[in-house]
Parts: sequence; C-alpha cells; structure tokens
Amino acid sequence: MEYILELKDISKTFPGVKALDHVQLQVKPGEVHALMGENGAGKSTLMKILMGIYKKDPGGEILFNGRPYEVSNPKEAIDTGVAMIHQELNPIYDMTVYENIFVGRELRKHGLVDKKAEIEASRKLIEDCGLHVSPMNTLRELTVAQCQLIEIIKAISVDAKVIIMDEPTAAITDREVEILFGHIRRLKAQGVAIIYISHRMSEIFSICDRVTVYRDGQYIGCGETKDLDEAQLIKMMVGREITDVFPKSEAKIGEVVFEANHIVRADHKVKDVSISVRRGEILGIGGLVGAGRSELVEGIFGLHRLAGGEIVVRGEHVRVRSPKDIIKKGVALVTEDRKVTGLNLRGTINDNIAVVAISKLLDHGLYSKKKARAASAEYIEKLKIKTPSSDQIVGDLSGGNQQKVVIAKWLLSEPDVIIMDEPTRGIDVGAKRDIYLLIGSLVQQGKAVIMISSEIPELMGVCDRIAVMSEGVLSGEVQREDFSQERIMALASAIEV
Ligand SMILES: Nc1ncnc2c1ncn2[C@@H]1O[C@H](COP(=O)(O)OP(=O)(O)OP(=O)(O)O)[C@@H](O)[C@H]1O
Ligand SMILES: [Mg+2]
Repeated sequence: MEYILELKDISKTFPGVKALDHVQLQVKPGEVHALMGENGAGKSTLMKILMGIYKKDPGGEILFNGRPYEVSNPKEAIDTGVAMIHQELNPIYDMTVYENIFVGRELRKHGLVDKKAEIEASRKLIEDCGLHVSPMNTLRELTVAQCQLIEIIKAISVDAKVIIMDEPTAAITDREVEILFGHIRRLKAQGVAIIYISHRMSEIFSICDRVTVYRDGQYIGCGETKDLDEAQLIKMMVGREITDVFPKSEAKIGEVVFEANHIVRADHKVKDVSISVRRGEILGIGGLVGAGRSELVEGIFGLHRLAGGEIVVRGEHVRVRSPKDIIKKGVALVTEDRKVTGLNLRGTINDNIAVVAISKLLDHGLYSKKKARAASAEYIEKLKIKTPSSDQIVGDLSGGNQQKVVIAKWLLSEPDVIIMDEPTRGIDVGAKRDIYLLIGSLVQQGKAVIMISSEIPELMGVCDRIAVMSEGVLSGEVQREDFSQERIMALASAIEV
C-alpha cells in the first residue's frame, strides 16, 4: 500500500467559517510531507481532526494503513499511531518535565506510578535530544524553546507511525533546529511519516520531500519539493506573485528617543548591555535562542528585577518598577509568547484590542464599545485578520491570526517606541509583508522600532542597524551597509571575524 495516511474529501464548518472545504491529503510512510498555506488556511484544523480533537463534517473518509481511521480523542489517536506537536503549546507550568513527558501514559509498578523509572527514562530522552534541563525542572523554569523540545521528545517517545509537527520551529533556532532535523531524519529512516507545518520556506526545502498546499480551506495542489521553487510555492499559497518579500520604506532618522544603558539583570542573564534607538530607525536584535535578547527587553520593561542600568526615554530618566511605568512613557513591548503575556484567549478581538489602548476608546470618559469595534475593524483590515467578526473569541482564531491581534493591540496605542519580540513568528509570507509595511509606516511617522528576530534574512531586510547578542552580552553591532549573513552569524556565536 502506497499511503500510510489518506484523507479524502474532508470538510469542517465552524459557526460563520468554512475552515475546510472538501480537502485531501496523502502521506507516504517515511516521507516528510509539508502542509502549507496562509494563516487561517485550515492546516491546524485538519490536524486536530486527525487527533480526534475536532469532528469532521459528515462525508469524506480517512484511511490509516488502508483501514478506516476513526478516533474521538488524542489518546485514541496516539494508541493508533498518530501523535502531534501542537502549535499552541499548552504547558501546565507547575508540572515537572518528567511528569509532562509521561502524562496520560504513566509508567507503573504494582499499580502505582513509578516516578523513579519515569525520571530515568526522561533523563535519557532529554540527553538524546541534546537538551540541558533536568527531568525535575518545572515547565515554568524552561524557555519557550525548551518547552517545544519537550513536546518533540514526547511525540518521538510514543512510537508513532505518523507524527504531526505544527510549527515545531516557531520558537527555536539554529542549533535546536539542527537537532530536530536530526531526529526527523532518523524517524524517516525508520519509516515514520512526518506531517510538517511551517511558515519558514527554507525549512520546507531542506527537510520536506513533498508539499501539499491549501488556500482558504481548499486544496490547491501537491508536488515534490525538488520540482518547486520558493516563488512557485508562494504563488500556490497566496494566489499571486510576491516579489519584494522584505519591503524597506525610507524614513528620516532623527534624534535618540530611547536608551537603555548598562542593563544588568539580577539573575545575570543580561550583563551590562547598552542599546539605543533613534526616531525613524528600526533597530534589530539578533542572536541565538538563549542569547538573552528576550531577557534584555523583559528586564527593560520591568518584568524582571534589574541589578543595574538606566532607562532614558526622550532624554528623561525613567524609573521602571513595573511595565506600567514605561508604558506610560509611550514604550510598548510586543511579547514573544502570546499565550502567557500577549492575549486573553477567552476574550473577543474587541476586548483584546481595548486592553492597552483604553484611553483611545473613551467617549465622554466612558469605554465606548462602538469605538473599540471601529478600531478592531480598522486593524482587521490593515493586517488582514481572518475572522467572521470582531466579536470572535481570540482563542478560536488560527495561530497566525492570534499573533496579528497581539500586534494590532499594541499598534493601536500608538507608542513612540515599540519593542517587538519575534513579531512575525507563525505568520505567513503575505502577512509578514503587511507587518513590515506597518512597521515602515510607524518609523515614517517618527516612531522608533526595536525588533528581536531569529531570522537573519528578516533582520537584514527591514532593519537599519542590527545589534547582536551572545551569552547575555552585546557581541557587536552592524550598520545596514555592512549587513551580511556571515557577519551576523559570527557575532551571534561570538566568533571573531
Ligand atoms: N474552534 C474554532 N472555532 C471557530 N473557528 C475556528 C476554530 N478553529 C479554527 N477556526 C477557524 O478556522 C479557520 C482555519 O484555522 P486553522 O487554525 O486551521 O488555520 P491554520 O492554517 O492552521 O493557520 P495558521 O497558519 O495561522 O496557524 C480560521 O478561519 C479559524 O479562525
Ligand atoms: Mg495553525
């Protein structure tokens, strides 16, 4: 039999949304099969159907190993041989690493959970993965990247025949991606099929054998990656050609508007780092995951205690005891982990957008729902947020569209300085371009932008200057005219060039 998994004629309707419209997918054993499409195309929905989280509309069929496949929850899916690494991690932060790895399939001895065996087995899995954490750590103590790798370990360890990876590299870079790809190659050799969802083009061409594309819930086509190039793939996804992936708008660079000098975090994750940004300027912060970039901006923002350093906004010293102190001065932070700090998933788009910019949504001193709706509508259009209305619950939006809401809510507050931590994580090519254009129009208005990104091409495409961090310190700075991939990579790994 040619296919390990075959989906025919699958549809899924949510209130007001046809998420999937008679789609198909055929997966061969031992292949890495990319599933691609814009934000809201229906990728995660199809995968959740496979895991028994959603029920497909009546009609169509799913075959696993040539036999009808019907599961009604993730446990049944895993028992049948289908495992998934979710796009939106849902860690229970007080759980330890080993408990998380074995949740729902605890090792037992005389009917009791055998903690010791679970800890030992976890230790081995963690080591094999090249991860430096203890099985006894709680998930709270881990970075987003480490949590993601724990999910990967979990899927590998259940002995699945098909592993779904929904944006597994969204929060990890370089070294960890290489480790993941190593695991993927090993799994392939064992005949395991991988369904791989990612918005990072380079990964699709380096690890995937075939690719299936959906657009707006419909099947567009399937082909071998070796017969396709990036431009063709983008065209299949967005339905038109995109020539300038990184549009760079010209802005007048003015005086320094924001400085953070000699920042030292109490936990020493950041040691004596100074950065500054001018009006009209886009400053990039590059570096590997774990270099201390998020730690730096969280420290500046009052989310962690500083042992030293000063923050100066428009020439004025600001004492930052909590984020409120710096938000008041017109500085915004778009955070990396939208689940923890970015969004209220149970709230509507209106609710979320109103949180930061409430002062802009008052009518005679009272919160105006009408104004909130109008503001939401503006950004739904500007960022092409895919949703039936602004009353939609944010948790029901696709991953990329949730990220767009995070960006919208901060843009609405019209900060003078906007710090963005991996703003385009999980966002499709077309929408990324919309975000770059918005950032471009901000700096044209004389605002300043600081952008952390792990994607060097993105930093090189949109920034005027890139500061690179490595192991908690600034390892160098590069001006736009001197940008080169090698240079930035060398600084990120702190190699002298
Ligand atoms: N539980 C839900 N209730 C209502 N609508 C939903 C729900 N889950 C998904 N949708 C809608 O279905 C469509 C497809 O969403 P899905 O999450 O599958 O997109 P995706 O291709 O994974 O996008 P992304 O690249 O942004 O992750 C979207 O319009 C989304 O808003
Ligand atoms: Mg998704």
